[in-house]
Amino acid sequence: MLRDKRGLEMTAADQAAVDAYDATIDAYLAQGRDTGELLKRLGDTDPDMVMGHVLRGYFFRLPAQVHLLPRAEKSLEAARAAAPRANAREKLHIAALEAWAAGDLRKCNATWDRIVIDYPHDILAFRLAHFLHFYIGDLERMRNSAVRTMPRWSQEVPGYSFMLGCHAFALEENGHYAEAEPLGRRAVAMNENDIWAGHAIAHVLEMTGRRQDGIQWVDEHEEAWRARGIFAHHIWWHRTLHYLELEQYERVLDAFDRQFWTEASEDNTDIGNASSMLMRLAMLGIDVGDRWESIAEVSAGRLEGRLRAFNDVHFMMALAMGGKTAEAEMMLASMREAAAAARPGQTMAEVYARAGVPIAEAILAYAKGEHARVVEIMEPARYEMRPIGGSWAQRDCWVRMLIDSALRDGQDALARALLAERVAVQPTSAPSWRAYGDVLARQGAADDAATAHARAANLLAA
Ligand SMILES: [Fe+2]
Repeated sequence: MLRDKRGLEMTAADQAAVDAYDATIDAYLAQGRDTGELLKRLGDTDPDMVMGHVLRGYFFRLPAQVHLLPRAEKSLEAARAAAPRANAREKLHIAALEAWAAGDLRKCNATWDRIVIDYPHDILAFRLAHFLHFYIGDLERMRNSAVRTMPRWSQEVPGYSFMLGCHAFALEENGHYAEAEPLGRRAVAMNENDIWAGHAIAHVLEMTGRRQDGIQWVDEHEEAWRARGIFAHHIWWHRTLHYLELEQYERVLDAFDRQFWTEASEDNTDIGNASSMLMRLAMLGIDVGDRWESIAEVSAGRLEGRLRAFNDVHFMMALAMGGKTAEAEMMLASMREAAAAARPGQTMAEVYARAGVPIAEAILAYAKGEHARVVEIMEPARYEMRPIGGSWAQRDCWVRMLIDSALRDGQDALARALLAERVAVQPTSAPSWRAYGDVLARQGAADDAATAHARAANLLAA
């Protein structure tokens, strides 16, 4: 009987194949640059390993890239053909892959959740469910999955830090910042390569507005995380959010150019980082030069194939703000078409209908200067955004868009109310205090305006 490093039974040619599988999973968990290479090696070691086919099926779907889908389909077919040899756990993995391919992401997640209930050390099923729960905004499921699985783990089981990191992130996205922080810090202390745990802490520090701590956290681990894969760019993006809230706009632009958009990238997270940072800058009235151009260019290549609404609204920002209005209209039409396919079992179509299309419509309206329209869409839509996935910090871009549109449309009473919310929740944002002070002054609340402006000044002086 062959077993992986966590003791799970594996159907494979020999132990060398299982070792190759373990090495691939390890690299995936640590967001290693060599994950693809190791996956290939696994295929060379045992071309017909059941979990090898499944893993390729998963990994060709994870990046949400249209050109990878034929390979994902091929892997699923191979997994199906191998199913008679598979053990019960592996059969469930094949079922999860089938559900994913069929567009039923909730069924896919439920299958992984079930695997983890029966086999708590199946870290692949756990990590994938963690990710896909996150990407459709199923935050309670993400938290529950971590909370019920952790008692089945201990430091003696290989990969424990990765579990801690996921637990930390799940707690953080559910607003339990104080509980999340020690878990994430412990994970990174155990394994500095655990960039996902590091990312959980970056989120804690962002959501609690600890600007200097947030910058320091990334500075301290920069060397280790630079050696990780492309996900490190997202960590630099997080550090840059702190520069933004400290109104250090030169540093923001420098980080954009030299850290997270050093060249045009096809990676969806890269595009998301770049697009949402420029959007934030544009809304603050900062001149971003010709920086939209390359993101818009890449996004123009994504007009076909609606795979993930979260990515699409970032393409939409680049197209609309980068002056490619015709392409932006085409993107919106394509998203509407995807939304029209909404029916039970088509998770992403439902996400397009509920969140993707309204946000995309608002972005296009914003770029056209139709600010009243943005307000009209986003006032209700801000409460419906969660299924689009991504983090609270990422979705915040479109709350900012609502506030900025209220200001630009002269809806000062609304802007004042929204900014009052914002400074209450994010009291360390200098630009928010400044905008709040401005609108208070216009509304004749001179004392409150002076207090708000002083808060902005104090934050910058600190
Ligand atoms: Fe993040």
